[in-house]
Amino acid sequence: EKAGYEHFMLKEIHEQPTSIQNTFAGKLSELEGNVTLEELYLSKEEIKRLKRATIIACGTSWNAGILGKYLFEKLAGIHTDIETASEFRYSNPVLCGEELTIAITQSGETADTLAAVRSSTSYGCRSIAITNVVGSTITRESDSVLYTRAGPEIGVAATKTFTAQLIVLYMLAINLGRARGVISADEAKDLIVAIKRLPGQIQKVLSRKDTINECAVQFADKRDYFFIGRYLNFPVALEGALKLKEISYIHAEGYAAGELKHGPLALITDETPVVAIATKGHTYEKILSNIKEVKARNATVIAVADDDDTEIEKYVDVVIRVPSTHELLAPVLSSVALQLLSYYTALAKDCSIDKPRNLAKSVTVE
Ligand code: F6R
Repeated sequence: EKAGYEHFMLKEIHEQPTSIQNTFAGKLSELEGNVTLEELYLSKEEIKRLKRATIIACGTSWNAGILGKYLFEKLAGIHTDIETASEFRYSNPVLCGEELTIAITQSGETADTLAAVRSSTSYGCRSIAITNVVGSTITRESDSVLYTRAGPEIGVAATKTFTAQLIVLYMLAINLGRARGVISADEAKDLIVAIKRLPGQIQKVLSRKDTINECAVQFADKRDYFFIGRYLNFPVALEGALKLKEISYIHAEGYAAGELKHGPLALITDETPVVAIATKGHTYEKILSNIKEVKARNATVIAVADDDDTEIEKYVDVVIRVPSTHELLAPVLSSVALQLLSYYTALAKDCSIDKPRNLAKSVTVE
């Protein structure tokens, strides 16, 4: 059932060209520059009136939610908060009932997320669930359900469900942004064309697994790792760190790169590899400065960079390449590369990859 792969995680990483294709199939209209989401029960008028959205999630889904916040704000002009489900309920949320709640939960059964959604809908908020499991509890608690069509995920570490969540978030942001007149049909079209190219580009990332494996083996004995990124690459850094600690048991921290100088820089030495997610975009120059900051502390820097970036080698020790895409979509490709980095690190350390210690696939206790 592992289809020849050594672990479910590796199989699921390799399924991403298909799982992403299935998630957007039939929804992207290049001609109209729009995304059709028939399952979204919000009228155009309601969408126009939206003032605020709150994304609620845990773990990897929460990391996806940070990207969602940036997308809803940029493409749909909706002020969006991202909340950790286990904190939300106990933090006296100020809701007036006009906010949209978006729950992201792969399993649809995470107790903290369910509880947080119930408390927001008790204020009268409209709700959308993004989940991978048909008929899961969250689907009965939400007005609209947007499915990630990633297929069953067996490995405890979320991989293909994460990238499928990103795809749903892009589609929802484009749909809301078009309804609200925040983005033009042409801007939407550019994104849609780029989304359709992702499955082939993921295939390319997968074909470079030997290089990523070499990098993983080189640093598998390190005790600490840092992952840094800015803007859309910040959640990629968080997810890269979460995946590494989860399956390889290496202490890893994900940071907004600009935050390094406010504390964590004290921990950077020649013994801490720093993964810098440095795909091209409007924060590229800034991340280069952050790379110089850590290099000055003798850190080994592994950069995730675009194929057409010809200068990055000058600044870093190792480059993991991903195909160039629309600036907003790069997180999908970088995340796949980092999943492979975690996988091969855990493999080199002979860890229990599909069932990491102390963790469960679905967390049904609060
Ligand atoms: C990490 C991981 C967890 C889950 C979290 C939420 O690889 O899988 O962090 O993302 O437990 O689970 P769902 O998405 O089912 O609510």
